Parts: sequence; structure tokens; C-alpha cells
Amino acid sequence: MPGVDGFEVCRRIKATPETRLTPVVLITGLTATEDRIQGINAGADDFLSKPIDFNELLARTRSLLRLKQFTDELESAEGVLFSLAQSIEARDPYTSGHCERLAEMSARLGEKLGLTEEDIRALRRAGIVHDIGKVVVPDAILLKEGPLSPEETEVMRKHPVVGERICAPLRTFHGVLPIIRHHHERHDGSGYPDGLRGDDIPLTAAILQLADVYDALTTDRPYKTAIPWETALLMMDAEAERGWWDRELYAAFREMIQEARNHPEQEPSRKSANNATT
Ligand SMILES: [Fe+2]
Repeated sequence: MPGVDGFEVCRRIKATPETRLTPVVLITGLTATEDRIQGINAGADDFLSKPIDFNELLARTRSLLRLKQFTDELESAEGVLFSLAQSIEARDPYTSGHCERLAEMSARLGEKLGLTEEDIRALRRAGIVHDIGKVVVPDAILLKEGPLSPEETEVMRKHPVVGERICAPLRTFHGVLPIIRHHHERHDGSGYPDGLRGDDIPLTAAILQLADVYDALTTDRPYKTAIPWETALLMMDAEAERGWWDRELYAAFREMIQEARNHPEQEPSRKSANNATT
């Protein structure tokens, strides 16, 4: 092929969101292991060596298309969950953009800490769906201006467990479930729903929690305006002092925010502000 080779075409197909799940079979005259490795690195799903056996090509294409069908079904199931999460976010006009910022901020902290790609992917997904359980919280509670009564608090506090239950059937959400369930735990055991403490709290959940709190502080809510980022960090310093956050993790988070403020072009857009860390 002029200009680009088959590996590069494959790499581009797999790097484009719209085509990344399209199966690619590399037909090659090369049998060397190195070329196969290059093909695998480029994202190829299968290989066929020249000369092509027509029946083998047909059988492999059928098998890949079958797999693609399962992937598509899984993708649409994820799509439904993301849409539901977005519609819940839309119930509260103050939370616009909160989920995207959270996904972005959590993933950046995960990268900074050297977490696995799988954990970072889970953080991105959790950023979008972590509050999906608020589907059971009535508007009168969700949009209430001012403090909640003990009964209302109890209803609101069901959302992590409900959210976990909603997302549980999706196998690809395996790493997302603990984040949904534990995104309101605190290091000293004073959080909910399980009152976990210290290292019993999954690291990914603790990461999302910090991003959630920071974003809620620095954006508008129905009953308060956004506070400056420096003040938000001071408030979170006091919370860390009180034992709510893991010291080491919070230090890394703080450093990331300060770095981002020194290079604001790297920070996700904050023009749509808001609430949502009940
Ligand atoms: Fe929440």
C-alpha cells in the first residue's frame, strides 16, 4: 500500500472510536514472529498467511462477526447505562458537566499514581455512572435547598448500593462496582454505606471520592456559589487532618490540582458548574 502499511491502517482503525471494535484480519506473506507481534500491537484480531484458503477466510470472518455481535450488544448495554446516568444528572440543573469532569480528574489521578489501564478505564466509567443510584431519590430530596432531614438523608444514602445493583449485570463493569458502592466511604470509617476504613476502601473509590468532593466545592450548588480552588484545598486539608482522607493519596491529589492550576490549559472545562456529592 502506498504511504502506509497494513499495520498502520490497522492501528488507525483501532485508534478511532467509531471503528475501534471493527474486527481486523491481517493477510500477510510474513510468518515471522516479529511481524505477528507487530500486528498484535497494532490491534489486529486475527492473521491469515498467503496464499489464502477461501474456506478458512470464511470461517474466521464468521467467527469474528459473531464476536462482534456480542461486543455490540455489550456496547449498547453500556450506552443505556450512560444515558440513564446522564438523564439523572440532567434532573439537577446544577450538576451539568459534573460527571465528565469527575471522570477526567479521577483518571488523571489514576495515571499519576501509575494505576493499571483497567483501573483507569474503570475510573472513567465510574465518573459517569457513580450516582446512577440516585434514580430512586425523589426530586423533593435531590433538589432540596438546605440540609436534609434524617429520613431524607437515609433515602439519599441508598444511592451507592442501588447504583451497584443497577450496574452489576454488566461484566465489563466488574472494576466499576466497588467504586460505585464505596465512593462515600471515609478513611476513618465515618462514611457510608459500609463504614469501611483505611486500606479496606478500594483505592479507585478513594480517588473518585476526592475528585467528587473537590468538584462539588469548586462549583455552584443550589444553596451556595462556587468557592475558589485554594479555599477548597484548605477545606480538604482540614478534612484530611480530621482523618477523612488517606494522607498520602490526598497529597498526590493536592499536587495534581496545583499542577493543573499552574497549567490551566490542561484542566477540563469548568464553565458548567455544580453540586452532587451527597
Ligand atoms: Fe454519590
